[in-house]
Formats: sequence, C-alpha cells, structure tokens
Amino acid sequence: MRTNYCGAINTQYLDQTITLYGWVHRRRDHGGVIFIDLRDREGLVQVVCDPDNVETFQLAEKVRNEFVLKITGKVRHRPEGTVNTTLFSGEIEVLIAEMEILNASLTPPFLMDDDNISESVRLEHRYLDLRRPVMQSNLRLRHKVAMAVRVFLDEQGFLDVETPILTKSTPEGARDYLVPSRVNASHFFALPQSPQLFKQLLMVSGFDRYYQIARCFRDEDLRADRQPEFTQIDIETSFLSENEIMSLMEEMIRHLFKSVTNIELPNPFPRLTYADAIFKYGTDKPDLRIALELTELTDVMQEVPFKVFREAAEKPNGRVAALRIPKGGQLTRKEIDDYTSFVAIYGAKGLAYIKVNKLDDGLEGLQSPILKFLTEETIQAILTRTAAQDGDLIFFGADKAKIVNDALGALRIKIGHERGLASDSWEPLWVVDFPMFERDEEENRWQALHHPFTSPADGHEDLLETDPGNALSKAYDMVLNGSEIGGGSVRIHRQDVQSKVFRALNISDEEAQEKFSFLLEALQYGAPPHGGIAFGLDRIMTIMTGTDSIRDVIAFPKTQRAQCLLTHAPGTVDEKQLRELNIRLRKTELPTG
Ligand code: AMO
Ligand code: AMP
Repeated sequence: MRTNYCGAINTQYLDQTITLYGWVHRRRDHGGVIFIDLRDREGLVQVVCDPDNVETFQLAEKVRNEFVLKITGKVRHRPEGTVNTTLFSGEIEVLIAEMEILNASLTPPFLMDDDNISESVRLEHRYLDLRRPVMQSNLRLRHKVAMAVRVFLDEQGFLDVETPILTKSTPEGARDYLVPSRVNASHFFALPQSPQLFKQLLMVSGFDRYYQIARCFRDEDLRADRQPEFTQIDIETSFLSENEIMSLMEEMIRHLFKSVTNIELPNPFPRLTYADAIFKYGTDKPDLRIALELTELTDVMQEVPFKVFREAAEKPNGRVAALRIPKGGQLTRKEIDDYTSFVAIYGAKGLAYIKVNKLDDGLEGLQSPILKFLTEETIQAILTRTAAQDGDLIFFGADKAKIVNDALGALRIKIGHERGLASDSWEPLWVVDFPMFERDEEENRWQALHHPFTSPADGHEDLLETDPGNALSKAYDMVLNGSEIGGGSVRIHRQDVQSKVFRALNISDEEAQEKFSFLLEALQYGAPPHGGIAFGLDRIMTIMTGTDSIRDVIAFPKTQRAQCLLTHAPGTVDEKQLRELNIRLRKTELPTG
C-alpha cells in the first residue's frame, strides 16, 4: 500500500522504507545509475535505481516518460552538491528496493514541465495537460475557494439548495441553450442562464438564506473572461437591505482571499456610483490599480472651431474627454498610430493628442496636429483641467458618449499596464446606483441593465413610467482589478412593481404571463422583501491564480468557438434521434475548424 505522496517526502522520513505510486516525470541514465523523477499530485521526488539491484534495474531501463510506477525504497540524503532547494523533497532521494510498472504510456505530445504548449494541443489532450503542476495547483486552489465559500456561508446560516438544469428561459441577456423534449414534441427546455428565478422562489418559500455553487449556461459571444458554461456562487437572502447584503458579501470575499491566499483586501470596499465610474473611467468595471482618469471637456468644446470636437459636444448623447498620460511625451509617432488603431476597435474615428513639452513656453511648448483648430482659451482649459505637466501627452476622444467611454476606457487600461502606470495592489470596489434600464439603439427600446427582477431605488418607482431612462435601481456589482466578479440586487417583491418594469421593457402582459406567470403569481402569496448576488467563480479564480485565461481554471473548458476539443462536442446526432425529437434539420453543414 502507498505510505506517502511523492511530493510530500522530506528529511523527516530519512531511513524509512516507503511505498510510492506515481508517474515518470523524467528518467535520466547516469553512468550505470538510473534516476527517475516520480510525480504525483503533491509534487516530485527523485528515486534512484542502483545496478546492483539487477531485476529492478532491468525494469527501470524500460521505463519511459509518463509510465505509472509503484516503488518501494529507503529515503536517504542526496549527495552533497545535488540538493534541489526548489523542491519540497529536494534534500532527499529514495533508493529503490522494489519496483512495479503499473502501466505504460505512449510518448506524450508534450512534457509536463513545458510551459510553452499550444492551447489547442493542451485542450485536445486535456487529461495530460491537467497533469501539469500549474494546472494541478489551479484546480486545487479552486477547490479550496469552493470549500471556504461553503464553510463561510454555512456558518452564516445559508442552505445549499439545488435548482433545475432543464428549465425555462431565464432572462440574463444572453441567448439560451435549448434542449428539445422528446416526450413533449415541439417543446424545448432552456438551460439556466442563472438560477435567478428559482432562488427568488426559494425566498417566497421561506428558506431565508440560500446559496448554490451553480452551473450557468449562456450562448453569447465569447470573450477572454467568458465561457458558455460557467460557475456562479449564487446567493439569495430575505429581509436584508442592499447595504446589509453588500457588507456580508464583501466580508465573504475578504475572508476568501485572506484564508486561501493570505491576501488582505480593504475593509470596507470603496463604492463608486455607476455615473461616476463611467465619467472617470469610461467603464462600469474600473481597474483602480491604474491611477489615470478621464477628464471631462464636453462643456468647453461647445463652440470650438474644430468640427470633430464641436459636433460631439453639441450632440445630446455626445462627449469630449481627455486622457492625460504622465510622461506620455516619450511616445513615438508609431506608438501613437498603434493606439489610434487600438481605439478604432471601439469605434473611435481618431485619436487626437497634444504633447506637452514645456508649459512655460506657452503654445510654443505644445505639439499637436489640432492646436490650430482650438482657441488659446480652450487650450488653457484643457491644460488646467487635465493638470498637465511638462513631458505629458493628452489624448482626446470625441464622439457619441458610448464610443468615447469605450475607447478611452480601454486605452486607459492598455496604456496603464503597458507603461507601468498600474500598481500591483488588490483593488476591489462596489459599483452602485446603476440605472434600471439602458437604451437598445438598434431595437429602439429599453433593456434591463441587470435583469428585469431588479428593484428600482427608493423613490424611483414612478420614474419607471414617466422617465425610465433616469430610474436608478438597487443593483450593485463587485469589481476586482478591473474584472466584474459579481453582481446582484434587491429584487422586486411586489407584483404591481414587477408588472410596471415589464411594461417599461415593452414586455406585454401576455408575454409576461406566458414567460413568468409562476413568478408573478408567487409574488402574490406573501413574497418577502429579498435580494442577493452571484459571483463568477471562474473569474475569481482567474484573478487569484494570476492566469490570463479563464480556461486555465476550468478542468474541461470550451474554446472561443464554444467547442470542446477533447470530446469534440458539440457533435452531430443520428437521424433516429432527431426523428424521436420531432426535429428536421434545415441545414446539415458542419462547422469548419
Ligand atoms: P450576472 O449576469 O451579472 O448576474 O452574473 C454574475 C457573475 O457571473 C459571472 N459571469 C460569467 N463568468 C464567466 N463566463 C460568463 N459567460 C459569465 N457571465 C457572467 C460574472 C458576473 O458578475 N442572476 C444574476 C445575479 C443576481 O442578480 O443575483 C446574474 O446572473 O462574474
Ligand atoms: P483630422 O482633421 O480628421 O485629420 O483629425 C485631426 C486629429 O483629430 C487627428 O489626430 C485624428 O486622429 C483626430 N480625430 C479625428 N476624429 C476624432 C475623434 N472622433 N475623436 C478624437 N480624435 C479624433
């Protein structure tokens, strides 16, 4: 039987005879002695096979990378000069007495300590990729976080309740994954985008405090921080105000970071209103590690000769803003051009700039293609408001507010990280006072900024009908280092208010009945005031491990094309299955790549 894990042996075990199971990480022949680095989930240990042990030595000669071995041997000091201080077991080695090959291995497509493997090869052979120490450590940390969450929430009286995976559409703003029902021909289940409605119903049922580490499914365009199926730490409580929910939740996150990674997060987390976040950082998930802020200039550009700025300033939903880059004067023409192409991704039609060489020299001390289009008074206002210093560069965005915010917001992050303007601190915050709705320009209607079950702020209920664009909600997002790690709200617990919100969203009474009759009805049976939040566990893990891909913290993730390269899902199905489901395909083209 195994006595120890490979990676957990040190000098404490000197002279003991131990039995290990593990994989061959490396085998080295050294003039008649064979060294094997044997690996298991706890790490590596060096085992030594001496030619005197003839039978075992012959076996050891056959061993190749990733063979599975059982060995028994004695722990001894490594010879002087061969100690490896980077390994827990680095001071010792195990002299093999007996060895058994439990299984052979094909030559693996990569070595387990290679960190330069193409991601598609890793995903195709995920079971091997997961043998790599970094992946083992990521998943282990994920387990620790999930455990810490469970312990914390259990201590706070939260109950873990499972909710259905085969369900009806839950509107979180993405497309649903649908599952056809065989028994009910022509009917479909939707996989949950979140347990939102069920957790609200559990509050109506009186459970008071619910949580679930829940899988959610969203068929949306994938970005670096998104997966089509992902995991939420999903939470709901009754009778708590938004402040009470927020303090409990930040306590949980502080506890998580402290207990799992010994990272101290501030207490309390700072709060920023949605309006201020957009105004200062161009985004509702600001990365506060970067000290740069946008400067508002819309008001001073109303009458300037420069048409691009004037027109943007005059538009009702236009904005002119600046981003001062300390020491940005060092940027080359080429770098400025590259940033101009970068902001074009966000729809910006240009990236005007002023280089501030020497303030004391007045206009002479400035360098810019747009100076000639601006009055001296405007230039002075720009310099004062941005608090420009010699050697700085000021970038400008002028367009619809959304384009300016997206473009300068993204530029702030890019330049901040590229030019060493980001601190290496941990910067969580709450973003609060979100609007209830945002305008969907294409469809020319209001859409819920969070989801349609979010309560309006106190005193804003009437605005739902009179001025929906200015109605604020009781929603809050938790942001950490520029990533939205959680979002929630106090919910609507009165049926009449819920109906008002549906009407503002242009959801007809009929449609509301058809989609959410169960909720509307439940609200009428003594629904308590309630609210909650959901954290993106995968995103928290991405930040905690410091990886740049969400796929590195999920055991079996999907690619950017929402495919699983290991199992080749999604796949085609045979005609018989389709017939049973009453489905005929319109197109039989297979996706390429
Ligand atoms: P929301 O849609 O904001 O809220 O989701 C909560 C958190 O889940 C994470 N997240 C994702 N992570 C990975 N891939 C995705 N595709 C993805 N989408 C979201 C984010 C996000 O903050 N029912 C509400 C919560 C509530 O109101 O209680 C909800 O789902 O970190
Ligand atoms: P133009 O007069 O179009 O050559 O533009 C002069 C400068 O303004 C160039 O540096 C452009 O990159 C910049 N510019 C043009 N459009 C915009 C815009 N919408 N926002 C910010 N800068 C712009």
